[in-house]
Amino acid sequence: MTPDAPTLNATNGPVLRAAIAYLVAGLGTVAVMGLLGLLMRLDHAGMLVVSPDWFYRIMTLHGAGMITGLLFASFGGLAAVVSAEVRVSARALWIGLVLYLTAMMLVVLAILVGRFAAGWTVLDPLPYQGKTWSESAGVAAYAGYLVTGLAIVVVCGAMLRATTAAPGGLRRALAWDVVFHPRRPSPDVTHPPVLIATVTAMVGLVMVGVGLVYLVPLFLEAGGLVHHVDALFSKNAVLLFGHTMANLCVYVAAGMVYGTLPRYAHRPWKTTWPVAVAWNAIILLIFFPWSHHLYQDFVQPLGLQILGNLGSFAGGFPSFIVTIVGALALVYGAGLEWSPTAILMLLGIWGWAFGGAGALLDAIVPVNQVMHNTMWVVAHFHTYNIVGVAAFAWAYLYHVTAELSQAPERRLDRFAAWLYGIGAIGMVVLFFLEGAHSVPRRYATHDPEWQGYARAAIPFVVLILIALGWLGGEVLARLGRAWRRTRIGPT
Ligand code: HEM
Repeated sequence: MTPDAPTLNATNGPVLRAAIAYLVAGLGTVAVMGLLGLLMRLDHAGMLVVSPDWFYRIMTLHGAGMITGLLFASFGGLAAVVSAEVRVSARALWIGLVLYLTAMMLVVLAILVGRFAAGWTVLDPLPYQGKTWSESAGVAAYAGYLVTGLAIVVVCGAMLRATTAAPGGLRRALAWDVVFHPRRPSPDVTHPPVLIATVTAMVGLVMVGVGLVYLVPLFLEAGGLVHHVDALFSKNAVLLFGHTMANLCVYVAAGMVYGTLPRYAHRPWKTTWPVAVAWNAIILLIFFPWSHHLYQDFVQPLGLQILGNLGSFAGGFPSFIVTIVGALALVYGAGLEWSPTAILMLLGIWGWAFGGAGALLDAIVPVNQVMHNTMWVVAHFHTYNIVGVAAFAWAYLYHVTAELSQAPERRLDRFAAWLYGIGAIGMVVLFFLEGAHSVPRRYATHDPEWQGYARAAIPFVVLILIALGWLGGEVLARLGRAWRRTRIGPT
């Protein structure tokens, strides 16, 4: 595949249609959840106060909706990217989408009807004690998480099957020839997006396994078959499951960048030895950084704490050194086309680096002692999600609809991309400032002394929503033609 060739194969219609459905459903959810984010910010600012009951219900829906929306949008995008090379089952993708939407409905019902408000990652004694909602609402929300897990299994299973189907199987898909024989050039090296699809699918399957280890005992507790699940066990397991899922989003989304940015830089992004080693390392390293959320649990075995500390730093290397520096090297001096897609993708690289740096700071034990339960944590994960993952996914949806509909990317839309960047960066910088001044997180009511940060953040949130409305409008205008072209193939 040459870097200037179209990135999509329009004859692969069924997979492209499923991929577009994932991107639209996932990013549509992100847009609605963004409005809920604005509502919470207005509450923090004291400008539109909602009751604590509603605040925590909104916060729970926002967190769960955002993480899963971005994950499934990214899976869809990655499926489209790899479909140029391997055969992903469109049927499996549609089944995964139906499961994802069913899971969302369960969680929405649990929250809106059952008043479930335990947060996206539920900490003991919740969800069954000290609650303001019925036990059945807790079970419904957990059933939603279970069905989300099933959807991930279906999608990851389909990806892994596709990437390992060629002769050479998993070994080839993971580019082990490059890892173990860097000096022996192979004519048939796996391209980075296929390598990334393989790695993230493997991680997704293990992660759902961890989720089951957490969810099944809680179902047993609700059914009265288990007295009470151990608090430390449930915290460790939920964060291993939930934090890994949030982390996975950025790695899946990176596959869209590896598959698309070369087209705008007019240079190939090759599976060099560092790229192959780094992505193989992620299979293991992604399971460590979660434990910087556990430093405050003094009963935790010391070995686990040390492992978590080292793992938080080690986990940063593959992304920082390989993808971030790799992306910068790709575009440096390349005469990059500063299209809306390229702007959003490079913005996303910045968000990934900056949000990751915020996480690394939080992983330093003395910093963590002071910062962990403040808005600093909210700042770091919003940075790599809204500036990073969401920018990658919006960029890719914009790119797909432009390429398929054969309508060139409009120069004017670059302003929407920059507006998005200004809004997202302004919003997260204010979260960071809030954290640096020890404003606590997950507080429904903010003292008047804290409210200035949220007030200053609101115009930036509005900018994001304006930019998304603009880009979303452009995408919708091209969607019909793009969809039809997946039915008739290249013209
Ligand atoms: C318009 C953009 C957004 C705004 C205004 C916004 C705002 C907020 C606010 C105010 C909170 C509550 C923080 C607290 O008091 O602790 C929050 C929590 C959260 N947000 Fe966002 N957010 C946005 C985008 C995103 C994105 C893109 C993600 C993607 C993953 C995300 C994921 C989360 C999560 C996981 C939580 C924590 C929920 C919990 O603690 O259970 N947000 N957001």
